Amino acid sequence: MAITTCVFDAYGTLFDVAAAARQAAAEPGGEKLAQIWPQLAEDWRAKQLQYSWLRAVTGEHTDFWRVTQDGLDWALELRGLSDDAALRERLLSLYWQLQAYPEVPEMLRALKAAGMNTAILSNGSPDMLQGAVQSASLADVLDDVLSVESVGVFKPAPQVYDMVLQRFGVAKHHVLFVSSNGWDAAAAASYGFVTAWVNRAGLPVDRLPGQPNFVLQDLSAIPTLAGQ
Ligand code: LAC
Repeated sequence: MAITTCVFDAYGTLFDVAAAARQAAAEPGGEKLAQIWPQLAEDWRAKQLQYSWLRAVTGEHTDFWRVTQDGLDWALELRGLSDDAALRERLLSLYWQLQAYPEVPEMLRALKAAGMNTAILSNGSPDMLQGAVQSASLADVLDDVLSVESVGVFKPAPQVYDMVLQRFGVAKHHVLFVSSNGWDAAAAASYGFVTAWVNRAGLPVDRLPGQPNFVLQDLSAIPTLAGQ
C-alpha cells in the first residue's frame, strides 16, 4: 500500500464524545442527567452533525463550536433540561477536554516511530482541537492538526480532504484516513484515500458510494495496517 501519511478524524475517532455527558452525570448536580446521559449524548452528537451537514449544503457556514452549542441546546430542551444553565456550561467545558480512547497515545507513538506523517483532519475549530489535543497530551505525536476552518466548509466537502494533500504533498493513495464516522469514511474512500472505518458500536456499513477498505473495532491495528 505504501502508506506515508495517517490522518485521523477527531471527535468520536480519537476523542470519546460521550465522555462529557458521562462525566457530568457522575458529578454532584448531575442527578437528572444520570438517568438519561446516553440518550442526551446521542441526540447532542446527532444534531451537531446534522447541523454541520445542513450548513455545508446551504452555504451558511459557522464554526464547529457554534453547531456544538446549538446541538446541545436542542438535546437539553428535548429532555426538559433547558433551564439548567450550570449543566450546560459544564457539558460545554468538558467538550474542550474530552478523553482520548485508551489505545490512542501508543498507536500514534508507533506511527511516528515508523516514520509516518500523522495529523488530525476535523470539523473542529482550531482552538477546540488544540484544547482536546493538549488535554490528551497528543501534541508530540501529531505533525499537524488541520481544521476545516481553513476552507470554511464542513466535511464531507472534498475541499476538506484536499487539505491533506496540500499540507503533506502526498498522493491520495499514500494516505490512510481513519474515522469512526461511517459517512466520513465513505466520503474519504470516494475521494481516493485508503480508508479505515472504526466501527466500535458494530453498526451496519453506510449505504453511500464510497466503501471503507478496512473495518476495525478500535485503533490498535492502525500501525500494522499502515505498514503493510
Ligand atoms: C470531526 C467530526 C466529524 O472531528 O467528528 O470532524
